[in-house]
Amino acid sequence: MIFSAFSPLLRHAGIANLTKDALLRMDAETAHGATITALRLGLAPQQEGSDAPELATSICGIELKNPVGMAAGFDKNAQVPRALALMGFGMVEIGTVTPRPQDGNPKPRLFRIPEAEGVINRMGFNNEGHEAAFERLKGERVPAALGVNIGANKDSEDFVADYVLGVNRFADLADYLTVNISSPNTPGLRNLQADEALRRLLGEVLSARAKAKTRVPVLLKIAPDLDEAGMDAVARVILDTDLDGLIVSNTTIGRDPVAGMENADETGGLSGKPLFALSTQRLAQMRQRVGALPIVGVGGIHSAETALAKFEAGANAVQLYSALVFGGLDMLDRIKAGLVSGIRAAGKGNIAELVGTKTEAWAQGRP
Ligand SMILES: Cc1cc2nc3c(=O)[nH]c(=O)nc-3n(C[C@H](O)[C@H](O)[C@H](O)COP(=O)(O)O)c2cc1C
Repeated sequence: MIFSAFSPLLRHAGIANLTKDALLRMDAETAHGATITALRLGLAPQQEGSDAPELATSICGIELKNPVGMAAGFDKNAQVPRALALMGFGMVEIGTVTPRPQDGNPKPRLFRIPEAEGVINRMGFNNEGHEAAFERLKGERVPAALGVNIGANKDSEDFVADYVLGVNRFADLADYLTVNISSPNTPGLRNLQADEALRRLLGEVLSARAKAKTRVPVLLKIAPDLDEAGMDAVARVILDTDLDGLIVSNTTIGRDPVAGMENADETGGLSGKPLFALSTQRLAQMRQRVGALPIVGVGGIHSAETALAKFEAGANAVQLYSALVFGGLDMLDRIKAGLVSGIRAAGKGNIAELVGTKTEAWAQGRP
C-alpha cells in the first residue's frame, strides 16, 4: 500500500515528491510490503519529544501515552510494532493472526479508490500464524499498548476453537486481545455476531482468559453493517459477560458513498474516508447501548477533526489505517496536535473529558 510513510524521511533527502509519485504508481500491496520493510529497517521517522499531557488516558486499565492507535491489518505478522510505537502511536494492534499460517485470497486483493480516499480489501487473513507472531513478540519491547487481534482459519472446522487458541497463545504477552468477528473476507465469520453464536464464542473465549496467568482485557471488534436489531443483540450478549470493551468498527460491505467510482465494484471491505460517517454513527449507537463500557473508535479517521469526532461520539481511544495510505505517516503528528488544540479550545484539560459529548447527535446521524 502506498504509505507516504516514506515521505517524512525522504523530504530530508529532497526527493520526496519524486519518490512518492513512484510509490503511488506501485501496486497497493507491493507498496505496503515496501513500507513494512522500511519500518523494519528503522527508516521510519521517530517521534521527537513526548506526548502532551492532555492526550494521556487509559482504556480497560491500560495506560496510554496518547489515544491514537494503529488499527489491525497493517502489521499482520507483528513485524514492526516497536517501530510503530516509536513513531508515536499510543497503541499498536498486530494481526489478525490465525492459528495456522494461511495465504489469504488471490492477488490483486487490495485496491485504492483515489477519488474518495477509500480502500477496498479482500485480503482474507493472509498471515504467518500464531507461532510466527508469538516468536517475534516475545522478546520485543513495545513502548505503547500492544494489542493482538485474533481470528479463525478459513478452513477451520470450529471457528470458536481457533479464538480459544489465540487467547491461550497471546494472553500473557499482549496488553489486550481483540476478538475479530467482523472481517467480511472469511466466509461465515460475521455469523459469529449473531446472538447464540456470540454467546458461545464469548463464553469460551472468556473462560480461556480466566484460566490464563494474566487477566488480559478482551475487546470485540464488530462490523458497521449491523442494523439496529443486530446491535441490540450484540449489546445484550456482551452486557451479560465480563468482556472488557468493543472496537467499532471493521470495514463495510456497503458501497453507497463510492458508487460509480474506480474500483468501487471490487469485492471486499471498504475503509477510509467513505467509512467515516457510518462507523461513527455505529460507534455512537453502540455507546448508547453499552453504558460506560470502553470503546475504541475506528473507521475513516483522516484528520484531527474526524479523530475528535470519534471521541465526541463516544470513543475512549481511536485507531486508523487507511488514511495513512493517502496522507502519509506524518498525519499521526497532525492528528495528535489537532486533538490537543481541540481539547484546549473546548476548555478541557484531557481528551477523556470529551468522550461522549455528542453521542446523541452522532447516533441520529446528525453531528
Ligand atoms: C488492507 C487492510 C487490511 C485489514 N486487515 C484487518 C485485519 O486483519 N483484522 C482486522 O480486525 N481489521 C483489519 N482491517 C480493518 C482495519 O483495522 C479498520 O478497522 C478499518 O480499515 C477501518 O479503519 P480505517 O478507515 O482507518 O482504515 C484491515 C483494513 C485494511 C485497509
